[in-house]
Amino acid sequence: MWVEKYRPHEIRDLIGQSNVVTRLGSLLENPKEMPHLLFSGPPGTGKTSAALIVAQKILGEPWRDYTLEMNASDERGIGDVRDKVKIFSRHLAMNAPYRIIILDEADEMTNSAQTALRRIMEESSRFTRFIMVCNYSSGIIEPLQSRCAIIRFPRLPKEEVVSRLEKICRDESLQCDEAGLSKIYDISNGDMRQAINLLQGASLLDKIDAETIERVSGITHKGKVGEIINLALDGQFSKARSELIQLTKVQGLSEADFIKYAGDELFRIDDPNLGEIAKLISEYDYRLVRGANPDIQMAALLAHLGSLGGSSKKLEIGHAKDQSEP
Ligand SMILES: Nc1ncnc2c1ncn2[C@@H]1O[C@H](COP(=O)(O)OP(=O)(O)OP(=O)(O)O)[C@@H](O)[C@H]1O
Ligand SMILES: [Mg+2]
Repeated sequence: MWVEKYRPHEIRDLIGQSNVVTRLGSLLENPKEMPHLLFSGPPGTGKTSAALIVAQKILGEPWRDYTLEMNASDERGIGDVRDKVKIFSRHLAMNAPYRIIILDEADEMTNSAQTALRRIMEESSRFTRFIMVCNYSSGIIEPLQSRCAIIRFPRLPKEEVVSRLEKICRDESLQCDEAGLSKIYDISNGDMRQAINLLQGASLLDKIDAETIERVSGITHKGKVGEIINLALDGQFSKARSELIQLTKVQGLSEADFIKYAGDELFRIDDPNLGEIAKLISEYDYRLVRGANPDIQMAALLAHLGSLGGSSKKLEIGHAKDQSEP
């Protein structure tokens, strides 16, 4: 996977994050004084990479032994976090100032789990530092935010993404014109992970230009999302759900991205229920952000769409709105 191959290993390798680079640089000068950290920002902007770099720089060679990486949305509850943290922080790290716990997707934890985490942080702060990583800092309760230095990762700017993609093309001996790289940026919207994945997907084709990039991205995701919404509106729940599972579990599209694409595709719809559909999508977006079970929520969304459909004229996949069927 090129995303891993090209993951930054030095703070200065993080593109488009000059503020982050400066702040982390000064925090790393005095590791003993380092507070807990909260990294917040959109997907694919370097948050997890930065957390790993901080751990490596502070803990040195044995950093893997002294770093615990947890995905807050995967762990079954705060009990798991507490148990792991307890075991992990029982002893002081040898030759290192403390141990580091990276808590990814922290904004997906429930409020009560976050409240419990607040105590855990206090109890273990002699031996551990937390780096919480999230997309929305508003999803983190105030008392946790106030215990952390908050570092915000903005969306990556076009120029820097394009020039990083150019470098990858050179390293991989790939021919891709400027318009193609520009298209990759427009589709990925400042998400470097998605940009690199798109480039790798397109690298299998003979020629890479704006048109092939559009095709690759359309085939892989967006078009498919529109098809699934159509099936759901048409009342074909089981088919819609199995296609959705194919897209999320096999092709790896996150549920959050599914919702995002569904929102993007909305403008193609010509339906008296458009407002209701928009409200539905925003409701399920919110539920996912709040940490509800994605499988259950996505199935419920499809079922809900089915109950709204019927009068729907459906999404016109791949066509302009004015070409929609009567
Ligand atoms: N600022 C950046 N500079 C260079 N490469 C980056 C940057 N941000 C992301 N990448 C690329 O994207 C990949 C994913 O980045 P990372 O895991 O750090 O993103 P993230 O911000 O944690 O995203 P998410 O919120 O989805 O977890 C990296 O392996 C790297 O290849
Ligand atoms: Mg991450």
